[in-house]
Amino acid sequence: MKLLEDRIREDGQVLGADVLKVDNFLNHQIDPDLMMALGEEFHRRFADAPITKILTVESSGIAPALAAGMAFHVPVVFARKHKSLTLKDNLYTATVYSFTKKTSNEISISKKFLSADDNVLIIDDFLANGQAVEGLIEIIGQAQATLSGVGIVIEKTFQKGRQLLDERQIHVESLARIAAFENGQVVFAPEA
Ligand code: G4P
Repeated sequence: MKLLEDRIREDGQVLGADVLKVDNFLNHQIDPDLMMALGEEFHRRFADAPITKILTVESSGIAPALAAGMAFHVPVVFARKHKSLTLKDNLYTATVYSFTKKTSNEISISKKFLSADDNVLIIDDFLANGQAVEGLIEIIGQAQATLSGVGIVIEKTFQKGRQLLDERQIHVESLARIAAFENGQVVFAPEA
């Protein structure tokens, strides 16, 4: 998606060998107009799927997931990484290991927000090693809901997440695909 690629070129910052900092518009300060455009683009790309719910994981997935929810006019559920006062029992839970942060998180959602009747679109900000998406897929399985697809804002094609999802024949749409970082610059891969 050209709008997003242009924004990454303009405001993204390459950190080390494999990390892109996008806190200017995606995961710290958020550009609402850009989010709305991303939501519309996800809607266009999954127009044929009978989506009833958007699922993401806190925190950075929430903004693009909400934008997608507004385009599809369906509820948005985000998995929590911490139990809260009101989120204790009747949970679907999965363990997610972050290769980037080298920590494990238990992610949970309340059983009342996902059922066997749901057709779910997963939305997340980054697809790197795919562990967050795998955790959400496990939760969808526990609920016996149907996974309709995975929408990603920024995919890093040189990490293994996309391959894991392709092997499972999951419909994945990434709005920007990064093939490499070279001399501090982003090299984009063609759309899949
Ligand atoms: P995964 O998300 O595909 O499972 O891969 P990984 O385990 O490597 O990523 C763990 C966390 O790091 C995720 O955030 C993911 O969004 C973030 N991440 C991965 N690659 C990049 C990158 O190039 N740039 C930035 N800014 N973040 C990246 P998280 O732990 O879920 O944190 P949150 O920000 O959503 O709270």
